[in-house]
Amino acid sequence: MDKLLIRGGHPLHGEVTISGAKNAALPDLCAALLTAEPVVLRNVPRLQDVATMLQLIRNMGVEAEHASDGSVRIDASRLSTPEAPYELVKTMRASVLALGPLLARFGEATVSLPGGCAIGSRPVEQHIKGLQAMGAQIVVEHGYMIARLPEGRTRLQGTRITTDMVTVTGTENFLMAAALAEGETVLENAAMEPEIVDLAEMLIKMGARIEGHGTSRITIQGVERLHGCDHQVVADRIEAGTFLCAVAATGGDVVLRHARADHLGAVLDKLRDAGVQIEAVEGGLRVKSAGRLKGQSFRTTEYPGFPTDMQAQFMALNVISRGAVSVTETIFENRFMHVNELVRLGAKIQIDGKVAMVEGVERLSGATVMATDLRASASLVIAGLVATGETVVDRIYHLDRGYDCMEAKLRAIGADIERI
Ligand code: EPU
Repeated sequence: MDKLLIRGGHPLHGEVTISGAKNAALPDLCAALLTAEPVVLRNVPRLQDVATMLQLIRNMGVEAEHASDGSVRIDASRLSTPEAPYELVKTMRASVLALGPLLARFGEATVSLPGGCAIGSRPVEQHIKGLQAMGAQIVVEHGYMIARLPEGRTRLQGTRITTDMVTVTGTENFLMAAALAEGETVLENAAMEPEIVDLAEMLIKMGARIEGHGTSRITIQGVERLHGCDHQVVADRIEAGTFLCAVAATGGDVVLRHARADHLGAVLDKLRDAGVQIEAVEGGLRVKSAGRLKGQSFRTTEYPGFPTDMQAQFMALNVISRGAVSVTETIFENRFMHVNELVRLGAKIQIDGKVAMVEGVERLSGATVMATDLRASASLVIAGLVATGETVVDRIYHLDRGYDCMEAKLRAIGADIERI
């Protein structure tokens, strides 16, 4: 099993190119299932979850190749098996994104129910309820969601969907399903993340009629047919945020190509309050950091609030900053798995329910730690970059799921990091 060996204490200098967003590329790949015409997606990151999604759609009879320039050409004209089997879904919950488009285009879909995962129970009952409201008949049998349209119907029916909580992939499933439904669908309490906007923009290029994406109320007028398109995946705000935290922690001066300030508001505010200098430069962001930072309390919320996907990485920064602060996780019930590992490196953190109290220490010391999920792994890498001596991060397959060449990018800007 691959591990990362990090020798900490090197400031970072130079330039990093931020890849396309994992959490946009995954729904975009599923959106390509909505048409029989070829779709070209550009700027698709090379990471394990994308490889899994490509495997999932190929398994359905779709042609899809990830070219060396980062583009993927998808031809779903011969899609024959509208199914997402357990073997693939268990490794990537985002497979549930196949449900909406398959149901909309074929009137049937069989998708394994994703189980819980390291960060929480993560049920999908909102996806099921919303699609049922659009007229789908869905039963859960033998661990699978078996969905079909009632006898005599060929399309889903537009309706009003108000979810009990804001759900990102739920909103994405409804957007894709509603694009081909009959009549108007209104999504209330919709997620507003940049990845939702990216998907909506792709669907509009395919001929969908969507308004209000980027707000909590999205209106979709269903069309009978969608077409092929050529679409560039938006830059990964979480990858950019991760590199911002890494530079903030180690000190240095780095330009992040393609990073977008408008997608990182809450994170940039906290970094600036901590004492990090961040400025917009042509085509990206420049981050400069020197000396010890000031710890920042924060609470994760839906976009445009502080992202749960940045909680662990910012906590790694708080751990070595001045002062005692609180970190409150409101999205997932179990997203503090990195805490015990950070403690192994010398961090002082106490957890009380949804709140982690962090008391900044002057230094961390290298140790062997274990990655437990994707963003937890990233936080351990950041901690390793500042710890004295050697840190080994075990089980980095979690990191490979969601970061495109993270250690190569870090090495290029001066980190002493290698895969062993
Ligand atoms: N929820 C339910 N029932 C549902 C749907 C959601 O109870 O039917 C709950 C979840 O358990 C959670 C909250 O609602 O407590 C929000 O979950 P959401 O549905 O928004 O999460 P998701 O769509 O499964 C996406 C990202 C996650 C990111 C969350 C929150 C993708 C592929 N995944 O997950 O990304 O943390 O939104 O922003 O877009 C990651 O990249 O590391 C990652 C976990």
